[in-house]
Amino acid sequence: TTERSLVLVKPDGFARGLTGEVLRRIEAKGYRLAALAVTTPDTDRLHRHYAEHEGKPFFEPLVAFMSSGPVAAVVIEGERCIEGFRALAGATDPTAALPGTIRGDLGRDWGEKVQKNIVHGSDSPESAEREIGIWFPEL
Ligand code: CMP
Repeated sequence: TTERSLVLVKPDGFARGLTGEVLRRIEAKGYRLAALAVTTPDTDRLHRHYAEHEGKPFFEPLVAFMSSGPVAAVVIEGERCIEGFRALAGATDPTAALPGTIRGDLGRDWGEKVQKNIVHGSDSPESAEREIGIWFPEL
């Protein structure tokens, strides 16, 4: 079935000029771009986006990092694109992520509290619809 997924190029990826590279890989895989925006998210939006992580030790550093600068928010579309983008992104820890993936090719540990891992991708159809509502309420 055709799915939509919410992809973020996080502040580290955006500041490093990797937005085009991430979009290139999404398009090369055959997914469509359905919405695209550049914005510096406020903490209210991030608390909603990361609600499931509230209370975890990395939650506040994560919100601080994610609100530190512009991100690219993207809605992608295609057959099984939720699983497909997570495969493109690679494992959460960029040191362990396999070469060939976005995080494995372009990311690493920077010795900080937060894992700066370049991209976010929705992890299920329910998360995708919830997250798209947070970043693109007009959709
Ligand atoms: P993501 O999976 O997109 O959403 C949760 C984010 O929290 C994750 O990317 C990382 O950026 C960060 N994260 C997850 N686990 C840890 C951890 N153990 N320590 C630091 N940051 C983490």
